[in-house]
Amino acid sequence: MKYLVCNFKNKLQKDEIIKYNSSIKELTFKTKLVLCPTCIYLPFFDGGNYSLGIQDISSFMDKTLTGEVDAYQAKSLGVKYAIVGHSERRIYKHEINIDFINKINNLQENDIEVIYCIGETKEEKEKGKTYEVLEKQISEVLNNVVVKNIIIAYEPVWAIGTGVIPNNDEIKEIMIFIKDLIYEKYEVNLDILYGGSVTAANIDELIKIKGLSGFLVGKSSLDISSLLSMLASME
Ligand code: PGA
Repeated sequence: MKYLVCNFKNKLQKDEIIKYNSSIKELTFKTKLVLCPTCIYLPFFDGGNYSLGIQDISSFMDKTLTGEVDAYQAKSLGVKYAIVGHSERRIYKHEINIDFINKINNLQENDIEVIYCIGETKEEKEKGKTYEVLEKQISEVLNNVVVKNIIIAYEPVWAIGTGVIPNNDEIKEIMIFIKDLIYEKYEVNLDILYGGSVTAANIDELIKIKGLSGFLVGKSSLDISSLLSMLASME
């Protein structure tokens, strides 16, 4: 296991962020810990054994646009990773493939590694469409970008924030499908993460999935003791 990517979403406020940073900054670990705070808090993470990630990035290039954060600005704050295609942005912000393609292009121009999220909804799963959906989410975006410096996060939408997760065999089968598809189409091996209700309580079991490169964690990463416990499992 390599990556533990923590997506704080729009949670925690300034004092909590400062405390979080001081609890983590002196620690050493082998896991690639990527912290993705709300972007206004990025400067409070001022150096430690982790990398910084950003939860979203502008899909526009060279445009003056109120409220947007550009990849070159993120780079100037030391951001090394960016989440693209998270289901919450697909669902609530109606982001579509062209947005993801543009975001990936902007990030690659600024040497920021992409964490591209894919995953089926409960309804799609129940209709037996999981593989079809994943195939589309992969092809329609990766066919239109340079397939390098991209990590894939498989996050079934029905598992995000619900406490319900697929079993290890299901995750492994889907991970192999994604890996094989990407290798066949683009002749590269990309790291695959799992995300959706990963906790300190279930990570020891999930770690047993051979070939998986780590986890994208939301809620459980907000609490420092739960983060430390997950990190200890990963080591
Ligand atoms: P969760 O979120 O760990 O709270 O389920 C994961 C995510 O949204 O990436």
